[in-house]
Amino acid sequence: MTVTQLTWWKDGTVYQIYPASFKDSNNDGLGDIPGIISKIDYIKDLGIDIIWVSPMYDSPQHDMGYDISNYEAVYPPYGTVEDMERLVEDCHARGMRLILDLVVNHTSDEHEWFKESRISKDNPKRDWYIWMPARYAEDGTRMPPNNWRSFFGGSAWQWDDQTQEYYLHLFAIQQPDLNWENPVARRAIYDSAMEFWLKRGVDGFRVDTVNMYSKGTELQDAPIIDQSVFEQPAHSRFCNGPRMHEFLREMNTEVLSKYDTMTVGELPYTPDPAHVLRYVGSGDKQLDMVFQFDIVDLGVGQTYKYEYEGYKLSQMKEVIQKWQQFIADSDGWTTAFCENHDQGRSVSRFASDSPIWRERSAKMLALMMCSLTGTLFVYQGQEIGMINAPKYWSIEDYKDIESINYHNSVARRSDNDPKELARVMRGLQILGRDHARLPMQWDSSPYAGFTGKKDGAWMRTHDLYKEINAASQLQDPKSVLNFWKKMLQIRKQNRDIFIHGEYEEYQMGGEKTFVFGKRHGSERAIIALNFTDQEQVFQRPDPGVKMELLVGNVEGVDGTEEMLQPYEGRVYLVL
Ligand code: GLC
Ligand code: CA
Repeated sequence: MTVTQLTWWKDGTVYQIYPASFKDSNNDGLGDIPGIISKIDYIKDLGIDIIWVSPMYDSPQHDMGYDISNYEAVYPPYGTVEDMERLVEDCHARGMRLILDLVVNHTSDEHEWFKESRISKDNPKRDWYIWMPARYAEDGTRMPPNNWRSFFGGSAWQWDDQTQEYYLHLFAIQQPDLNWENPVARRAIYDSAMEFWLKRGVDGFRVDTVNMYSKGTELQDAPIIDQSVFEQPAHSRFCNGPRMHEFLREMNTEVLSKYDTMTVGELPYTPDPAHVLRYVGSGDKQLDMVFQFDIVDLGVGQTYKYEYEGYKLSQMKEVIQKWQQFIADSDGWTTAFCENHDQGRSVSRFASDSPIWRERSAKMLALMMCSLTGTLFVYQGQEIGMINAPKYWSIEDYKDIESINYHNSVARRSDNDPKELARVMRGLQILGRDHARLPMQWDSSPYAGFTGKKDGAWMRTHDLYKEINAASQLQDPKSVLNFWKKMLQIRKQNRDIFIHGEYEEYQMGGEKTFVFGKRHGSERAIIALNFTDQEQVFQRPDPGVKMELLVGNVEGVDGTEEMLQPYEGRVYLVL
């Protein structure tokens, strides 16, 4: 008996597309919108309801399109606004929705707004960005206004010769931060970045860096964590600033509330559930849901992201429990995801990408994800169990500005010390953003069928594409792809338990197995996962109850077995 109300953005499964790497239709080596259109039926067939397209706007591509030079135009190699209109139509015709990435913490330095802003101190758009005079050290050396470090390394301030001031860029130098304190700039953002696309039928947004728009007006120095350098991580200073909720409320009343939309905010550095609820509680309309970062931050370095520290299964369980339970007894909503374009592949990070276990462990993760409460997000290639790039790839094979800047900064700091650089590579092999950006593996033809260009795609294709690709998996009933399809159906057939249910934590299994429950009224499911490559005892949380195996990822298992095989996952219904 279903009692929860069906809401398209709660019950729908979202598929994220990274346009550069999804499908190249004209053989120039780069993915494009017609390529996406050619694969809508593949996505629909997988069981997807909502497509999220990462930035396809016009951009000089310093940060893969997250540096936008015109919100109202498409990056020409990807296509045109008309292509986007066709994509919207083709999605709607199949009962699917389409959401875009809303990147409004910053623009590109080639955006007309910034070009004007940097002309002179009295330009009407000067105040649309964050400009400040220099500080001077005792010896007269010119210093940035504060010690904030950019996410992509070095100072978050860039000196501009022409007007003799610094501008703020939390990300690349080519990504100046917009000044949300200025109401005229805010209105322009709403019109250009949002209304323009909503009027063309787009169904909502994934909202980039959603908690960084309000930075206050003081812009104080960050606490010193790394004594050896001037620039310090400063998220405590610029995340969740004083007017953040006010801005989002305004965005909602002025724009979003006029349409039937969904919004999912990217919410880093916000560990407190009560705080997250302020963003996603439906009483105070701000965002429908957010991506909280704990799951994808497992094991990342505290001071420098890529100094990988590893993590324990118990930490992963805690994180999942925390963000499954935080909406209980509230009107808020949550998300279930473990991959996106900024992360290593989940099979490589959270399970095993070794040839013997990679398929089974990809299915185990699918089984886990499809059992979790919230809107489920699948990242392109996750459905076929794509894995990280091989360890023998060199830094030249990596393309991401964040990885390359980090590698270069360590090279400089250590005078090219091979040991230090090997350590950097070890971090990148797990956490590098490029792993998610490898061309989608469509089939076993050259360059994985992603492109017909003779000398290949813009980024190196995974060497294992003949073993891992969509075409062969479509043929094989036992493939990872067909397992995902089945799991997505099972999730919908049991939507009260899996999409809307209450999460039950069982304190068992230590660092080897993960057993949790889902409940909705009298319906109950128990999920058991073995995160090791050894057999493990399946400790039943409630040995008295009768349970029936609903689905599992190992052939021939009937559910009565006492041992879980390596990377086995099972979902039981309690009778
Ligand atoms: C977000 C995006 C990331 C981008 C950054 C700057 O974190 O997901 O890819 O580099 O914002 O826009
Ligand atoms: Ca192309």
